[in-house]
Amino acid sequence: MDSQITNKKAHSGLYELAEPLIRWYRAHRRSLPWRETRDPYRIWVSEIMLQQTRVEAVKPYYERFLRELPGVKDLAEAEEDKLLKLWEGLGYYNRIRNMQKAARQIMVDYQGKFPDTYEGILSLAGIGSYTAGAIASFAYGQRKPAVDGNVLRVVTRITADDSDIMKQSTKKRIENELEQIIPEDAPGDFNQGLIELGAIVCVPNGEPRCEECPAWNLCEARKQGRISEIPVKTKAKERRIEKKTILVFSDQDRIAISKRPDRGLLAGLYELPGVSGHLDQKAVIEYCKSIGLMPVKIKKLPNAKHIFSHVEWHMTGYAVQVDELEKTNEKGFLFIRPEEIRSIYPIPSAYEAYMPQI
Ligand code: ADE
Repeated sequence: MDSQITNKKAHSGLYELAEPLIRWYRAHRRSLPWRETRDPYRIWVSEIMLQQTRVEAVKPYYERFLRELPGVKDLAEAEEDKLLKLWEGLGYYNRIRNMQKAARQIMVDYQGKFPDTYEGILSLAGIGSYTAGAIASFAYGQRKPAVDGNVLRVVTRITADDSDIMKQSTKKRIENELEQIIPEDAPGDFNQGLIELGAIVCVPNGEPRCEECPAWNLCEARKQGRISEIPVKTKAKERRIEKKTILVFSDQDRIAISKRPDRGLLAGLYELPGVSGHLDQKAVIEYCKSIGLMPVKIKKLPNAKHIFSHVEWHMTGYAVQVDELEKTNEKGFLFIRPEEIRSIYPIPSAYEAYMPQI
């Protein structure tokens, strides 16, 4: 019993944090489009986009997404290709698939109105404790923490906590500790303050700007000279490397693309044809013939690399002009005009290096 009570208490260094943190946030906050609204839908869109993508990169996507899909119903009813096109370049496409699932849940289970309880928000597809806490506190002013990797860095430094931040148990404990100290009158600014501190002062890469930090005199890691040791983070597994040869097949007016399978990496998106391994020009010609295409001109394209969470693609490429794409179609390619590929078909940014060919 005793230990349970102790567990529930916040680390002593945190009790004094709220006031200076909120004061600092109000004075230094960046003005960002999603900070000017209390609409839970808009906040949700921003938080999902921001999960793996930098603020500056998110801004144009955020504006366009909300112009095209201004509400939950629009998202619930959108065509998949349209959604993927709006997300093209942001990566982690399951985020947008889950958002559509969640929007449909809201239409069915909540009559189209965004749920206004933490538990209701947490029950939606693709929403974990971080996003639920962010929406509950920013949109509805509820006293719920929003703890992501950046907040974990800030909090473990302030408390000189050398627990592994990759562990679910560390995150859970820090969520519990923060929940004790979120002030009644400013949960949103408290959470945003921690996020902002992690973004512009207690930065993820490089030296933190401790002299600008509102927690300067509270921060145990700084006082103990252990900033460079904290946070403790177990290393992720090494990524698998896949070699690929990307082939940009064209005839007079079309390019060959294909749809990726509905499951796995980049599910349901479109791609440029490819074969595994790095092929030389002779092997490319043989491959073309083996699938019934007759090359008339071949140009080597630069090598390129794309890094996903668990895999790296190391690519080489060729632009292959053929006499006629539609002669045979053993691979089930789609033959599409370049302007339609650009405007309609979602092609992941892994292929970016080869898109100028289109
Ligand atoms: N990163 C995650 N959430 C954010 C927010 N609301 N503002 C700025 N950066 C963020």
